[in-house]
Amino acid sequence: MIDIFAPTRAEKEIEKELISAIQSVMETGRYCRNFELLGEFENAFAKYCKKTYAIGVNSGSDALFFALLAHGVGKGDEVITVSHSFMESSASISKVGATPVFVDIDTETFNMNVKEIESKINNKTKAILPVHIYGQSVEMDKILDIANKYKLVVIEDCCQAHGAAYSGVKVPIGTTGCFSFYPTKNLGALGDAGIVVTDNEKVAAKIKSLRDDGRSAEAGYLHDEIGYNSRMDGIQAAALITKMPYLNKWNEERKKIAKRYDENLKDIVKIPKVGNCNEHVYYLYVIKVQNRETLMNFLKENGVGTAIHYPLPIHQQPPYKHLGYEGKLPVTEKIVKEILSLPIYPGLTIKEVDEVCEKIKDFYSK
Ligand SMILES: Cc1ncc(COP(=O)(O)O)c(C=O)c1O
Repeated sequence: MIDIFAPTRAEKEIEKELISAIQSVMETGRYCRNFELLGEFENAFAKYCKKTYAIGVNSGSDALFFALLAHGVGKGDEVITVSHSFMESSASISKVGATPVFVDIDTETFNMNVKEIESKINNKTKAILPVHIYGQSVEMDKILDIANKYKLVVIEDCCQAHGAAYSGVKVPIGTTGCFSFYPTKNLGALGDAGIVVTDNEKVAAKIKSLRDDGRSAEAGYLHDEIGYNSRMDGIQAAALITKMPYLNKWNEERKKIAKRYDENLKDIVKIPKVGNCNEHVYYLYVIKVQNRETLMNFLKENGVGTAIHYPLPIHQQPPYKHLGYEGKLPVTEKIVKEILSLPIYPGLTIKEVDEVCEKIKDFYSK
């Protein structure tokens, strides 16, 4: 079986290192509030993203939530974002009391259609939250220009884009970006984990407090504000320190797999398009197909796992239906019926990629 995700394959490569890192944490018993290990990972990740600060939290969802809070986004504000994403891109906006305002996406790159942003700006607009979907950056120069012009905050959802670059610069391109280390991600933990990277000192300090029950100092029991228990734990920090040096190599593997899919499938289905200034790191390899459900079943019967990311756009999810976007995001609503994610991850062999492609060819030649 070729699963749609298989994080254990890359982990097998470095199993001894990983086990030894976990054992070291077990020897100290410092599973929580292990700020030495967490700091080591935060420094490494901040350096990788060329950002001044990195604050490890318990998920990408909380990274987004805290980044919005720390940038002062709150009740009554509007945040411009996309509906074609994982639910938390918008849920984080709602959790701070603000309202997501959806723009449509580009039919080829699946990313935010930046041309639609300005028409949505009014005096309630506080921020733009672009999502670097599937591993490819949004056109960030345009977004940063608009944000400058209207004095808006930009928080980049980089949860699917570890190492992705735009015009040669790794995301986040603006001041603040949020990452998830959900196990299937390009850099995945052994459980839930996330991080905010930023160049803004005040934002960093606020998030440090928010994630640690409102404490501004690492030691002691003085709580300056109401916060959350949302630190990245010691085991996750140890695992991520161990995996971090392999991120670029694993991204290269993903790119090779994508290239092979491109070559094999370009005449049969719509292959993903890489934007001009983009270095795509292929968290997901998403094609557009006809007869998707039948193809998915055929592939499943033939031992190939596939998935849809995501089957229901956020504006059609129950908590957002009342906003009234039905029918107003035509590209989002159209592509959601055509997209299909194929297996792509370090450890997937070229032979297996060819097998997947053969099955797809078989299906369409019938
Ligand atoms: C685009 C996007 N945003 C946010 C998240 C939330 O991250 P987490 O699952 O770590 O909370 C994810 C994770 O799947 C994601 O893909």
